[in-house]
Amino acid sequence: MPDRKLIVLTGCTRGIGRALAERFAADGHTVCGCSRKEEALNELRAVFKPPHRFLRADVTREADVDRWADGVFQQSGVPDVLIHNAGLINDRAPLWEVPAAKCDAVVAASVGGAAALARHFLPRMIDAAKRDGKNRTVVVFSSGWGRSASAGVAPYNAAKFGVEGLTKALAKDLEEAAPGRFCAVPFSPGVVETDMTRRNWGEEAASYPDPADFARRAVPYLLGLTPQQTGESLTVPEA
Ligand SMILES: NC(=O)c1ccc[n+]([C@@H]2O[C@H](COP(=O)([O-])OP(=O)(O)OC[C@H]3O[C@@H](n4cnc5c(N)ncnc54)[C@H](OP(=O)(O)O)[C@@H]3O)[C@@H](O)[C@H]2O)c1
Repeated sequence: MPDRKLIVLTGCTRGIGRALAERFAADGHTVCGCSRKEEALNELRAVFKPPHRFLRADVTREADVDRWADGVFQQSGVPDVLIHNAGLINDRAPLWEVPAAKCDAVVAASVGGAAALARHFLPRMIDAAKRDGKNRTVVVFSSGWGRSASAGVAPYNAAKFGVEGLTKALAKDLEEAAPGRFCAVPFSPGVVETDMTRRNWGEEAASYPDPADFARRAVPYLLGLTPQQTGESLTVPEA
């Protein structure tokens, strides 16, 4: 049995997040997850009993993240690994046809969510790292579209390019706050068959790996990250 890690994971009810939760739990780690829909969270709670914990929180709402972080610290402790996976994509359209509210929501979920997690989780994680000397990891989900642009996805491109910049700067902040203790990285999962890809790519989505296959490759890779890699733009290893 590996060293049991406390994993905090946003967007845990579907797709990549759900598969990561399942894999971390199967490998003996404790998962504290959030997403926005109580019904889907109840379904997870029925399968994964405490010490795993799943709470309703919208990462774009400061009060939700504040309440969720408090609950995690009180009930589970200080996370070893913080993963911001929750994200949205716009329906494909030229930028001028994307409604303002959708544009804002896409950026808020990825970039605003990462910043909210930093505000509510990182101060305690930094204190703990200084106290116990253990390394800690922060993973923010980026995309191939955080590194190159395509027509029809300008809001998503903005969100994921934003994730890359935010996370690289965060890596530097963490290096100043707790030298040699943190690995903070923007992480691209490649293309995975989920609701997001099915909605955006239609039938073509089925030609990509399923979330369980992704998680089988991603979990050991993420747990193996070291502070020497902090600030690097990383991608899940190929099958
Ligand atoms: N799938 C791919 O091929 C691919 C490629 C590159 C990058 N990514 C990135 O990987 C991540 C996961 O993608 P996915 O394909 O698994 O997406 P997905 O199937 O749409 O699942 C998204 C998850 O995030 C939750 N969520 C969405 N907005 C949220 C919010 N504001 N607060 C809390 N939870 C929220 C959703 O649950 P609720 O709706 O119930 O809240 C769901 O659990 C995203 O950041 C995505 O941009 C995916």
